[in-house]
Amino acid sequence: MDDAASSAQRLRQVRDLPCPRGLPLIGNLHQLDAPRLHRVLEAWAEELGTPYRFQICGMPVTVWSDAELSQSVMRERPHRYRRYASLEPVLAEIGCNGVFSAEGAAWEPQRRLVTQALSLPHIRAFYPTLQTITARLHDRWQRAAERGDVVEMTDDLKRYTVDVTSALAFGEDPRTLEQERGVIQEHLAQIFPTLMHRVNAPFPYWRYVRLPRDRRTDRALAEVHRTIRGMMARSRERMRDEPSDAPRHLLEAMLALRDAPGSDVTDDIIAANVLTLLLAGEDTTANALAWSLYYLCADEPLQQRLASEARAVLGTHAVCPEYGLVKDLDLFEAVCSETLRLRPVAAIMAFEPVEYVQVGDVALPAGSKMFFLTRGPMLDARHYSLPGRFDPERWLRGHADADARVHDPRAWVQFGAGPRVCPGRHLAAMEMRLVLSTLMNRFTVKLAVDPATIEEITAFAMVPNRMPVRLELRPTVASPRPQTKHSPGRD
Ligand code: HEM
Repeated sequence: MDDAASSAQRLRQVRDLPCPRGLPLIGNLHQLDAPRLHRVLEAWAEELGTPYRFQICGMPVTVWSDAELSQSVMRERPHRYRRYASLEPVLAEIGCNGVFSAEGAAWEPQRRLVTQALSLPHIRAFYPTLQTITARLHDRWQRAAERGDVVEMTDDLKRYTVDVTSALAFGEDPRTLEQERGVIQEHLAQIFPTLMHRVNAPFPYWRYVRLPRDRRTDRALAEVHRTIRGMMARSRERMRDEPSDAPRHLLEAMLALRDAPGSDVTDDIIAANVLTLLLAGEDTTANALAWSLYYLCADEPLQQRLASEARAVLGTHAVCPEYGLVKDLDLFEAVCSETLRLRPVAAIMAFEPVEYVQVGDVALPAGSKMFFLTRGPMLDARHYSLPGRFDPERWLRGHADADARVHDPRAWVQFGAGPRVCPGRHLAAMEMRLVLSTLMNRFTVKLAVDPATIEEITAFAMVPNRMPVRLELRPTVASPRPQTKHSPGRD
């Protein structure tokens, strides 16, 4: 037997992979409880190893928990792999087929614009606005602390991320941190669970009949798209009335491209990217921050150490006073990395090959469904010592070498990898360090409920069901002072 024939014999086919016991015809469909999807898949991975498959009616979905493999799949895009194909039509139907779901020639120009808009030089130029918005979050928390209110952090943090993304990418600050109700987040919140539900549905029933949840989503989408079109119209007016040599933000760059001769960009593509950025920038960062509070609330000594680092960098300012100083907030960055290791907001990443591939010893025809679970490798003692322990120190330079602990950051792929790596990662890192340093400099935090009641929900991102927190002003800043209209980074 020649080498090719013997290796073909050793290759497993998808049908050879272990599969959890299911039912005739529907397979494992009845076990795929959408809000707990990542937990269900992780439990099967513990039982069956990697890779395994589950069945949605006649369709097999392969599931992998191998960081090295997921990295190589992500790097071999777009020529060998693409995102899960069911995503594109589902996103297109809601007017959101932008840079996240577009493939091939349509993806490249969108990616270029978005990457540029979220690049470090842009974030640096945007820093004064970031300070202003972070100061607004501080003021909101100060009022809550003075009143003794419990703050639902998932809500406040989404207000923050939407204000930031909008101001940076679309040149409009919706100031949702200053409003109580009627904010765009209430509508965006309807969209993720519906997306999750539709991408995994065996049959697109909503194209034939609208259930109450679909009608709720329709209403939310109508409102969100009305807001987006309003933003586009205002941006056009500003471009006409206050022309500038270069686009001032992503929305202007996209509108300019649309008006260029021979352009393929349409208003619908622009609106789809505005919605993509609102969704991509809101939930991930806000929930990563909310998860970090889960750990901080349980660890007063860590809060104390963070407060000292914040005080050393921020001094008496409410917000880090200079862009250049943010990099000194090392321990804060470590807290964010460690939080995402234990609570990966990107818990499932879904791809498929565009041609026949061999992955490990498995043969996969084009179009095979591949889910990568990101938490398994991050909780593997081969990659991190004492993997179940929340230990931000492990991310600090020199620490791993000092006591020869295992620390393999390649197992951490929370921002993806390769050509489609998250273009918002610099902004997310900046937001997380700014928010947490402001919080720890001025407040102590306590969870307002039993931590056992905080549950993980799959809602596209992996989010906590809630994060109610009680804030107390730190004694050094608790002395009564008259409230003045804020200026960013003020004392
Ligand atoms: C903690 C925060 C965040 C996490 C964990 C996260 C995670 C991810 C992941 C895993 C991907 C897929 C990467 C891949 O396929 O290789 C992604 C893509 C993307 N993210 Fe993020 N993200 C975060 C914040 C943001 C922010 C703040 C923005 C923008 C405001 C953003 C915009 C995007 C976009 C536009 C894509 C699609 C890129 C493409 O397909 O070319 N993300 N993100």
